[in-house]
Amino acid sequence: MTDAQDSDCEDFHSSHGRDYDTFVQETAGIHRLYEAGVPFFTKEQLRDLSRQLKEAENSEKRDVLIKGLEGTEETFEVRTGVTRAGSEPGTEWVLKAPAIEYRTFGFLTSYRAYQMDGYSDLSLRVLHYMELRDEITKELRPGFRYVVDSVKTINDSFTTSIQSWEASESYTQLQIIESRENLPPITKIVALALGTMQPRSIENWDHRSEFQHALALTLRRIVSKCQGETADKIECFAQDPAYTALDKSILEKYEITCLEDPDAFVEIDDSTIVLTFAPDVPVRQIVADIARPAMMIWNTCEDEIWLHNGREQFM
Ligand SMILES: C[S@@+](CC[C@H](N)C(=O)[O-])C[C@H]1O[C@@H](n2cnc3c(N)ncnc32)[C@H](O)[C@@H]1O
Repeated sequence: MTDAQDSDCEDFHSSHGRDYDTFVQETAGIHRLYEAGVPFFTKEQLRDLSRQLKEAENSEKRDVLIKGLEGTEETFEVRTGVTRAGSEPGTEWVLKAPAIEYRTFGFLTSYRAYQMDGYSDLSLRVLHYMELRDEITKELRPGFRYVVDSVKTINDSFTTSIQSWEASESYTQLQIIESRENLPPITKIVALALGTMQPRSIENWDHRSEFQHALALTLRRIVSKCQGETADKIECFAQDPAYTALDKSILEKYEITCLEDPDAFVEIDDSTIVLTFAPDVPVRQIVADIARPAMMIWNTCEDEIWLHNGREQFM
């Protein structure tokens, strides 16, 4: 992994001062670990977090313990359902499911992040997704609710997108995989962050999620044909915390199994195709640490955003 450029230290050399010097000293250990090739994410760590989150959801034990790269430990309390005053009169924030914050080398050695939160060696943290709703009626505020919630409408729209995708030039180009002679054996497809198919606004309904799921289905069909198998021999997993019950029910019909964060990461191995587009989490860095998948498909990357991704939706 060569994401040393993810660190924003360079930008701040001019601002050397007491704080900066302390920052350099405090983060030196993180640099050493990175240079020594220590993974910031491991399957063992993700499995342990997954187990703790499930326990916190299903038992009285609400605490999740996370160990840092340099040995610090932090406990997070899962507080799903707790409310607090909203940002507008008559509204309240409600804490939804826990969200995992994945913190890369670039983030942990960012001076700006240090200035905000101080030193931390935690490559994982637990936060909560939040929704804004009416305090009395509990109705979600616009922007937090979906404007289409009919299974039939979303399913029909997905079917139409599959048809348009299969009539496209890109679909035809993809068939070239069939002629690849050195394709390693594939047993799984793991799709990360393909988004919910339910739109929050009709005007901005871009169907991107539908096309991306259609691609996953095509890959499964092409690869199983190459391997002389039926498509059901290749497992297809999808993970996106934004999936709604409606998404899950539709994807299930297409034999795509939706997994909770971080379980899809744990599934990735050297016989997996990983696909992800514009994820809110550092998928490339996580995957580079935990596995060497047979194939990875993603869109053009912009520079990593140093800030907590989507910080405003967390607390
Ligand atoms: C910018 S959207 C991109 C959605 C879709 N791929 C697209 O191109 O429109 C980022 C997506 O990352 C998802 N995401 C956030 N955390 C995730 C996680 N831990 N695992 C998988 N997806 C995640 C979000 O829910 C959201 O759907």
